[in-house]
Amino acid sequence: MPDDRVLFLLENRREAEFASEVFEEASIPLTIVPDVATLCEEMENGCGAAVVTEEAFRADGYDCIRETLRRQPAWSQIPLVVLVAKAARTAGASTFSHLPTEITLLEAPVRMQSLVSVLSLAVNGRRRQYLVRDAMQELAVARQQAEAATRAKADFLADMSHDLRTPLAGIMGMIDLAIETQTEEKSRSYLQMARRSADSLLRLINDILDFSRLEAGKMTFERKLFFLRVLLEDSLSLLSSQAASKGLDLILDVDASVPSVILGDEGRLRQVLVNLLGNAVKFTHHGHVRLDVRAEGSLPDDGCGRLVFAVEDTGIGIAQEKLQEMFGRFTQAESSAGKYGGAGLGLAVSKEIIERMGGRIWATSEAGKGSTFFFTVDAGCAGEADLPQE
Ligand SMILES: Nc1ncnc2c1ncn2[C@@H]1O[C@H](COP(=O)(O)OP(=O)(O)OP(=O)(O)O)[C@@H](O)[C@H]1O
Ligand SMILES: [Mg+2]
Repeated sequence: MPDDRVLFLLENRREAEFASEVFEEASIPLTIVPDVATLCEEMENGCGAAVVTEEAFRADGYDCIRETLRRQPAWSQIPLVVLVAKAARTAGASTFSHLPTEITLLEAPVRMQSLVSVLSLAVNGRRRQYLVRDAMQELAVARQQAEAATRAKADFLADMSHDLRTPLAGIMGMIDLAIETQTEEKSRSYLQMARRSADSLLRLINDILDFSRLEAGKMTFERKLFFLRVLLEDSLSLLSSQAASKGLDLILDVDASVPSVILGDEGRLRQVLVNLLGNAVKFTHHGHVRLDVRAEGSLPDDGCGRLVFAVEDTGIGIAQEKLQEMFGRFTQAESSAGKYGGAGLGLAVSKEIIERMGGRIWATSEAGKGSTFFFTVDAGCAGEADLPQE
């Protein structure tokens, strides 16, 4: 139950008795306080409103009341009724206007009846503040519960996908052994098919593991120096046989402005590049896939700045209105779902990774003509002395 009693600073015992009677009749709970220090203490404990005379602000009174009001939480503004002498009304108003709460000035001598009606209004307003506080507390609890549920889900997924990988590695090892030792052509082709399925299952599990790690905020990013060109060539070579089998040209174009050594997470950058290059090769049947890297603006000599990567293809493209959606989890264009395999996680994971590394990822595309996926990465500042060993 909110504390909505009225605090009344009254030193005079007779006045206090009189006030008690009137308030009791009006059914307003009242606590008479004898001095400013007690008033401030009681305000901290909670109240519906406070009534003071101007004299209360003399000496340390003003600071005590102001500090107590300031210490109130964001939802709380204790209504303050100040009884002022006629002559002091204008002068007093400006002093009180600096207090961080709603002030009502009443001219003394005040009729108890007017005081009671002013206070009823003030206490009603105060009750609404308590309602807001309760709603905020409920919201905070609900948010905490939702966050805990998300964490539990992410933890479960992370554990699960981790546990799935161990037996899968065993299955893949055994299939490899069987392929090596099996001489019969038909059985070998069955085993190779099983191996490809196991490969895509492993990729899917890895993506789910990454995604749940990212969601749970458990993915860590390295900041190490590495040779960018080596990484670019490695990533392309992973796709070279697939591209060659489809007759696609794989092109690498690194602008002269790009530093040879950059600072960042090489493994995560490779993961994004392989995802984008893998998509480009997968969704392209004629022409080329091209990886372009250039500096955003001109980089100073120390290499500090941003790089823009572009993976361009001459493939099936994506309709303009679907483009943004493709970065969501488990989303695939209708035209490609099923036909090309995959789970629709590659772009979602890449987007999370790039954004966690402080970059941006986006795409342009024209259905039937091709797509270009862009992302930016901070190149860091590579000092010459820190060059990695090649
Ligand atoms: N280069 C591209 N050309 C045409 N469509 C693309 C291209 N890249 C992505 N897409 C579309 O975006 C969808 C989502 O891509 P994403 O990489 O997230 O999933 P996926 O490749 O289908 O599966 P996964 O990456 O999980 O194996 C794809 O299914 C496809 O419809
Ligand atoms: Mg993909």
